[in-house]
Amino acid sequence: MSDAVTPFQAPIGTHDVLGPNSAEWEGVVATFAQFAYRYGFELVITPMFEDVGVFNRGIGEESDVAKKEMYVFSDRGDRVYALRPEGTAPVVRAFIQHNPTTPWKAWYVTPAFRYERPQAGRYRQHHQLGVEVLGTDDPAVDVEVIALAERFYRALGLSRFRLLINSMGHDVCRAAYVELLRAHLEKNVDRLCDEHQKTWSENPLRVLDCKDPACIAVTGEGPMLIDHICDDCRAHFDKVVAGLTSIGIKSQLDPRLVRGFDYYTRTTFEFVADALGGAQNAIGGGGRYDKLAEQLGGKPTSGIGFGSGIERLILTRDAEGVEPRNLVDRSLDLFVIDTTTDDVATVLVDELRAAGFATARAYDNRSMKAQMKVADKSGARLALLVGPQEYAAGEVTIRDLRSNDFEQTQRRVARSEVAFVVAELLTKS
Ligand code: HAM
Repeated sequence: MSDAVTPFQAPIGTHDVLGPNSAEWEGVVATFAQFAYRYGFELVITPMFEDVGVFNRGIGEESDVAKKEMYVFSDRGDRVYALRPEGTAPVVRAFIQHNPTTPWKAWYVTPAFRYERPQAGRYRQHHQLGVEVLGTDDPAVDVEVIALAERFYRALGLSRFRLLINSMGHDVCRAAYVELLRAHLEKNVDRLCDEHQKTWSENPLRVLDCKDPACIAVTGEGPMLIDHICDDCRAHFDKVVAGLTSIGIKSQLDPRLVRGFDYYTRTTFEFVADALGGAQNAIGGGGRYDKLAEQLGGKPTSGIGFGSGIERLILTRDAEGVEPRNLVDRSLDLFVIDTTTDDVATVLVDELRAAGFATARAYDNRSMKAQMKVADKSGARLALLVGPQEYAAGEVTIRDLRSNDFEQTQRRVARSEVAFVVAELLTKS
């Protein structure tokens, strides 16, 4: 008796990406790569896991992600690592380690792992596209990074999204503000949501981020960070907003936008999609982190970047009704049907692929009818048929798979002319 194995499933909160959806992914990544290149970014690839300290020190031990969501494990040598929950801290770690010339402009595409409650648009493994710029605090860079995101979203066909922006100030002016906020929360603690009644004092800024109406009401009556940042931070913020306006990008001040990681200073921003309902409507977010390099043991170095979830971008494209295949076309050009039993297809498909055509074939010496069925399903434009007759005559029959009347439209051409004729037919329609 054989032991029946229940088929395994992808882990909760993760998903497989197969065709045809994977073509849309490929298009989103390729479009981002093109934009990154246009804006002067180079690709950076860092390990999927890092010393847990990179994240504890980087995103802050008190952040929700570090406290509750990281996948932390010990390897067989008892080193403690974490699967990356986000892309910024590893890039800054790599910057410190390799000391590239600044400004260093890096882009990445990476999975990110967070033990969250899975729901639509929120996964335990999601995938981020992002950029980071290290080595300058010029507000023009903030504008450029935000512009890259904005232009990229438009290139994906999105139009119903808004840019929310705020300033976190820097360590000194923010610390003074946090004391004001603390005093306000202390007076109103009984009115906060259940969770924040207990945890508000650990990090009062988190209460600003709370979506519970009770916390929103209390913080709404209290001081806002943007009104308490120092003159330098305010001047930086104003330049960023003016720079965005000068290139036609509208931003909306959101004084509650504090974001989930502790590394942010000055500019913070988020792009929210109106087509995505609920709490999972951020298609991208980022900001400055002028102290992060020091926190990770490097020299003081300013930085700014953003990350965007690929899944959310695709959900938004879908919700906005954007044609999924408009970024890259991954449909086949040709399908070779070989009924010669001499395996003519092996040489023919090799030649056609070398000539640049996306070409598939059937296997297992199946009947003409069976091969034709596969060809029809494959989405290829043209079928190339080689049966015993064609083979003997040194010819190939070309059939337009999109025509209903192939008897009329199919034609036989000399084997030596196939590539030429096929190229002509494919460019015609
Ligand atoms: P984040 O806001 O945590 O920022 O994530 C960036 C984007 O990733 C979000 O706007 C969202 O689109 C997507 N995302 C985040 N978590 C999930 C999830 N569980 N499921 C699906 N999508 C998700 C960062 O990670 C920062 N490293 C961004 C940054 C770069 N800041 C400066 N440089």
